[in-house]
Amino acid sequence: MLLRLNHVSKGYGVPGTHAFRPVLEDLSWQAETGSRICIAGPSGSGKTTLLNLVGALDKPDSGEIFFGDRNISKFSADELAHFRNQSLGFVFQQHLLLPQLTLMENVLLPLLPAGKSASKEKRTWAEYLLKKTGIWEQRDQKPSQMSGGECQRTAVVRAMINKPVLILADEPTGALDEANATILADLLINLSHEEGITLITVTHSAELAAKMDSIFQLKNGRLES
Ligand SMILES: Nc1ncnc2c1ncn2[C@@H]1O[C@H](COP(=O)(O)OP(=O)(O)O)[C@@H](O)[C@H]1O
Ligand SMILES: [Mg+2]
Repeated sequence: MLLRLNHVSKGYGVPGTHAFRPVLEDLSWQAETGSRICIAGPSGSGKTTLLNLVGALDKPDSGEIFFGDRNISKFSADELAHFRNQSLGFVFQQHLLLPQLTLMENVLLPLLPAGKSASKEKRTWAEYLLKKTGIWEQRDQKPSQMSGGECQRTAVVRAMINKPVLILADEPTGALDEANATILADLLINLSHEEGITLITVTHSAELAAKMDSIFQLKNGRLES
């Protein structure tokens, strides 16, 4: 088992009031290594909140999150940063590429926090991924010179550069047209199979959901299969 949530709750203060809005309520759930999991649910149900907790971008109000046998809820800020950089890959609805950098530079960016310049091995890996995703020829171009679909494929390559154990994707095809959404969905799923990476994706796309191994609905603060 890769991931286990034990009685996790998370809510937010409502801005400008003293009210508190619970979002996740006593949620217990687990994900197997190598599985491809879809998280569905209406807007505002807490899907992004859940991914943020699993991705160690935010902490639960109560409950614990285990990654393998490590309790990430107990990690220090430094441990969390290292964990995110080394074990996780993130893909968001917007690609969040840096406009002043080329595709290749954007893809190699996650290597910087570890103080590494890109090794020969990482460059070979980047080349493999860029070729596989069909954007190798454009590696020296900047995001403004690329289509939305190409930028989003670059974001997937960036998420893969450190060979993560888990990729978290939040509506990764949400800003793409149908043809590009299909390319991106297939890419995520193929890479997950080939590299043995667990994939958790939030999506409203029935097409992407149908390609995943299991679908969970976020309802009343909990996940139901
Ligand atoms: N940082 C925040 N501060 C206050 N409220 C938030 C914050 N983030 C999310 N929310 C609220 O929590 C609820 C769940 O949000 P979110 O997890 O983004 O849902 P989803 O991704 O399913 O659309 C929404 O009502 C949203 O307004
Ligand atoms: Mg969301």
